[in-house]
Amino acid sequence: MSQNTKHTSQIAILGAGDVGTTIAYSLIMNPVAGDILIVDPKEEVRDAQVQDLSDATFHGNTTTRVRAGTHKEAGQSDIVVITAGAKQKKGESRTDLIGRNKAILESAINDMTPFRSDTVLLIVANPVDVLAYFAQQFSKLPKNQVIGSGTFLDSARLRGILATKAGVAASSIDAYVLGEHGESQFVAWSHASIAGVPLSSALETGTRLDQNAIAEETKGKATAIMESKGATNYGIGGVAASLCKSILFDERIVRPVSFFQEELGVCLSLPAVIGRKGVVRSVEIPLDGEEKGKLKKSAEALKEVINS
Ligand code: 2OP
Repeated sequence: MSQNTKHTSQIAILGAGDVGTTIAYSLIMNPVAGDILIVDPKEEVRDAQVQDLSDATFHGNTTTRVRAGTHKEAGQSDIVVITAGAKQKKGESRTDLIGRNKAILESAINDMTPFRSDTVLLIVANPVDVLAYFAQQFSKLPKNQVIGSGTFLDSARLRGILATKAGVAASSIDAYVLGEHGESQFVAWSHASIAGVPLSSALETGTRLDQNAIAEETKGKATAIMESKGATNYGIGGVAASLCKSILFDERIVRPVSFFQEELGVCLSLPAVIGRKGVVRSVEIPLDGEEKGKLKKSAEALKEVINS
C-alpha cells in the first residue's frame, strides 16, 4: 500500500437504539473512523437512524460516512461495538438480562463469522462482563481482542463525584471502580490519588470523604437515571466512543475495562493498556487485602452467572 493510501477504518455498531446511535453520533462529532456501519434487524428504524446520523455529517466538519450494514460486513470491520440486546426494565438487574442477551449475542456472532483476524469486539450490552466472556467463546477471537466497556463508566462516575467533593477536575483524579460492572463492583480506595498524592492527603483541610456513601452513589447512578428517563445512553455512549478512538489510534491509554482474567477464569474490569490490538497488556495496580477479597467475590459472582 503506497504511503499516501488512506486506510479507511470501519466501525460497525450492532443495535440502532439509543446507546448504539449515541455512540455513532459521538464518533461523528469526534471523527475517528472513515465508515460507521449501523447493523440492526429492524431495517426501517436502522435506515431512519442512518439517514438522521448522516445528516449530522453533511455540515462539513467530519469526513465520517454512516451507512446501513450487514452482519457479514460488520465481521470485516476494525471494531464491532455490540449494543444489541434487551435493556433493564424497572427493578431488573443487569444480570437479569443474561438469558435474552446471550442468545442475541450468539446469533449475531454466528452471522458475523468469519471475522477479520484483527477485528476488536467491544461489548456494551449487559450484563457486559458475562457477555464479553461469551463473545470470546463464540467468536474464538484472541482474548485480548474482546473487551467489555466494564467499569470504565463507573470509574468516570466516581471521578465525577470526587471532582465535586475535592474541587479538582475529574481528569486530574486517578480513581478506579474494579470488578463487575454491577452489584459486586468495588472502589480501589487504596489506589485513589490526585497528581500521585493519595486522595486522603490531597484533599483540602477539613474535607472528609464518606467512602461507602460515595461507592454506593457511584454504583446506584445508573438505576437512579433509569428510574427517571428509562435508560442511560450518554455516559455509556461517550465511554464506548472513547474506547473506539483509543483502539483505532493505538493510543496505549490505561482504562479499567472488562477482559478475560486468566487466574480468575472470568471477564471483569482491571486497568489495561488499550491499543489497536485491544488489550495490549494489563496494568497491575496494588490492591490491599480487603480489595483483593472484593475482587475474588466479584469473580465468584460472575462465575455463578456464567455457569447458570
Ligand atoms: C449503565 O451503567 C446501564 O450499564 C448501563 O449506565
